[in-house]
Amino acid sequence: MAQDRPAGETLTLGIETSCDETAAAVVARGPDGRGRILSNIVRSQWEQHRPFGGVVPEIAARAHVECLDELIAAALAEAGVGFKDLSAVAATAGPGLVGGLIVGLIAGKAIALAHGLPLVAVNHLEAHALTVGLTEGLRPPYLMLLVSGGHTQTLLVEGVGRYHRIGTTIDDALGEAFDKTAKLLGLGLPGGPNVEQWAAKGDASRFDLPRPMLGREEPHFSFAGLKTAVRQRALELAPLSDQDVADLCAGFQAAVTAAVIDRVGRAVDLAQARLDDGKLGHLVVAGGVAANTRLRAGLAALAERRGLILSVPPIGLCTDNGAMIAWAGAERLALRLIDDLDAPVRPRWPLDADAAPAIGAGVKA
Ligand code: KG4
Ligand code: ZN
Repeated sequence: MAQDRPAGETLTLGIETSCDETAAAVVARGPDGRGRILSNIVRSQWEQHRPFGGVVPEIAARAHVECLDELIAAALAEAGVGFKDLSAVAATAGPGLVGGLIVGLIAGKAIALAHGLPLVAVNHLEAHALTVGLTEGLRPPYLMLLVSGGHTQTLLVEGVGRYHRIGTTIDDALGEAFDKTAKLLGLGLPGGPNVEQWAAKGDASRFDLPRPMLGREEPHFSFAGLKTAVRQRALELAPLSDQDVADLCAGFQAAVTAAVIDRVGRAVDLAQARLDDGKLGHLVVAGGVAANTRLRAGLAALAERRGLILSVPPIGLCTDNGAMIAWAGAERLALRLIDDLDAPVRPRWPLDADAAPAIGAGVKA
C-alpha cells in the first residue's frame, strides 16, 4: 500500500476522545495540500450517558479506554494500511474532558513511541476550523462559526495556527441551550434534533421570546436568558400540551436563529475590517448545531446578503470525528509543527490566546 502512494503524500492517523465520541481515522495529504479520507470511524457513547441526562466524565473516559484500540485497528484496516505506513499520529490534546483527553493522547504517544512516528497534539477547535481544507480544499482566510454542545465562537481563520477569535458565548454554548431547552420541555436526548422536530409542528410567533444580544456592538453570544424565558413560559402554562411544547420549541429556535445571524453579521463586519477589502470570501460553519435546517437557511441568507459563500462540511464531518483530527495533524506536520512526547493535555485551550474574555464569560469561553 505504502509503495502505491504518490510521492510526497503523508498518511496521518487521527484520534479523538475529547468528549462523548470515540473516533479514529486515517487521512492522506498530497504534496499539493489536498486531502483524502481513507477511513473515519466514530463510536458515540450516547447509550451509556442517556440514563443520566448528560455526559458523565468518568463514564466517558472509561468508554474511550474500552473501545479505542479496536477503533484504531478498524481505521487502519479500512484504510488498508499498517502503523509502518503512517507518517504521523495526531491525537486531541484539548480542550475537553480531562479523562478522555488523557486516554486519547496517551494512546497517540504510545503509537508514536513504538513506531518512531512524529506526534501532533491537536487542538480540537483548530481541527473543526481546518476541516473545510479537507472537504473542499478551502484555504484561509475565512470566517468560521463553530456551534456545538461545548463551543460557540466566531473565528477569523488567518492560516494554520493563526486564529483571531471574534465572538464567544458569555454563558451557554448554543448546542447546550438546545439540550437544556429539550430537557426542561421533557424531550430528552439528543436535545437539538428533538427541539428541531417539535419546532416544525409549532407556531414561532405565539411567544414573544427575547433575542439575546441583538444589535449589540460587541460580537458575543448569550443564551442563558432565553433559556430562562422558555422555562418561565413553560411553568406558567404547566401542564404543557403537545401544541405548547411545539410552539415553545419553534419560538426558541426562531429566537436563537435571529440572535446567531445578528452576531455572525457583526463578526463579518469585524473580520472584514481586520482583513484588506475583499479578502473575506467564505463563511464556514461547523459543530453539531450546523445540522439545524433553520439555522443553516438563516446563515445562507446572511452570506448572500454579505457577498460571501457559505461552506458547511458534510454533517458527519461537522460533528466530532477522527478525520478532522488527522487532517489538522497532517496540516501541522506539513509545517513541521510537531510535539514532544511529553505534550500535556489541555482541558482549557483557547485557539486565540490573546483574545480577551467576554465580559461575564464563564469557563466555556
Ligand atoms: O459537535 P457536536 O456533535 O458535539 C460537541 O458538542 O462537540 O454537537 C452536539 C450538539 C448537541 O448539543 C446537539 O443537541 C446539537 O449539537 N445538535 C443540534 C442539532 N443536531 C445536533 N442542535 C440543533 N439542531 C439540530 N438539528
Ligand atoms: Zn467538537
